[in-house]
Amino acid sequence: MPLPSIEQVDFTGKKVLLRVDFNVPLDKASGAISDDTRMVKSLPTIELLLNRGAAVVIISHLGRPEKRDNKSPGDPSLSLKKVAAHLAELLPGRTVNFSAEAVGPVAEEAAGKLKAGDILVLENIRYYDEETAKEEKVRSEFAKKLCKLADIYVDDAFGAAHRAHASIYECAKILPGYAGLLLKKEIDMLEKLVTNPPRPFVAIIGGSKVSSKLAVLENLISKADSILIGGAMAYTFLKSRLIEVGNSMIEKDYLSQAFQIVDKAAYNKKELLLPEDHVVSSEFGEKGKIKTVKRAIPDGFMGMDIGPKTADHYAKVIKKAQTVLWNGPMGVFEMKKFSSGTIAIAKAMAKTKGTTIVGGGDSIFALAQAGLEDKMTHVSTGGGATLEYLEGKKLPGVEALMK
Ligand code: 3PG
Repeated sequence: MPLPSIEQVDFTGKKVLLRVDFNVPLDKASGAISDDTRMVKSLPTIELLLNRGAAVVIISHLGRPEKRDNKSPGDPSLSLKKVAAHLAELLPGRTVNFSAEAVGPVAEEAAGKLKAGDILVLENIRYYDEETAKEEKVRSEFAKKLCKLADIYVDDAFGAAHRAHASIYECAKILPGYAGLLLKKEIDMLEKLVTNPPRPFVAIIGGSKVSSKLAVLENLISKADSILIGGAMAYTFLKSRLIEVGNSMIEKDYLSQAFQIVDKAAYNKKELLLPEDHVVSSEFGEKGKIKTVKRAIPDGFMGMDIGPKTADHYAKVIKKAQTVLWNGPMGVFEMKKFSSGTIAIAKAMAKTKGTTIVGGGDSIFALAQAGLEDKMTHVSTGGGATLEYLEGKKLPGVEALMK
């Protein structure tokens, strides 16, 4: 069943409760928004609603703040006030109000005053304990209070679709619910990957921990034609095949699962590639003794990036692909001396004619550093949500809209 979309709805004179994922990164020193991609990607949904005659009440979380109650003001640095101010800059000519309360008389009065074309941003929904409460009844009562503010519910928060929270799951049960344009696009792209991807389908999986990607890898073995492994998790894979990895970071408790994944790929006649050379360092950082070594890493050195031979080989596989999915960097790319592998993957993806999809904060950051974001077919706004979808799990935010 397709997701019910806002494209078919007349919003004239309606108030819309819009759940977005404006959980944007903040600069540690100044507290300012350091990347507004998630906001920008929901603008088409907001514009569509406003242009079709709606007033929009926006709900989002920002970070994981302490709850706000008589004892605590919550964490003021995670207030959505600055997000509301930035949204006003992104939508010149629109009225963007802010309510310091997300529910209750203050919020109701502010929502009541909205005219068609106006926006009201509610305070960080995670200041409220009820939003994330374990008990369904508590979440549901809270959602009722939120739903008093509007007539229709729209969910555009793909990045948070894996959370069964009140403003994501319960609101869709109370008001008529629709998917925003971003949520729909994200699901359409991922759905294509897991159902009928143009082949060859190559998945590049990196990052530091095998443990966090096990379920995705298990699922991808049956879907992808080739899986290219990089990042620190590659050392756990190599170690599980009894290849020496020196002082590299490995997850000892996951050696047997890593072994089984390689086995499963071989049994299913899928190509699973592990790095054949590495950039290694005598210490974690750019100041140690740095060199390139073949597959086995000598004692006293730790793997920091895939080596040039591996990068070349992976680039050749990517070039032939019709579909490429990338999640997780190939090395410690934040340090210039260990960024070549990750940049090589980004460049190879930019050159391929196939569909290219990138998910996960680190890979997206690396793409942006290489200035190649625009060359991808789709850059996902989801981290955990993308992974859970690729693991084959149902996303509560999507399920709620289907009901
Ligand atoms: C994210 O950044 O992945 C989403 O906004 C979800 O945030 P959470 O992991 O705090 O639920």
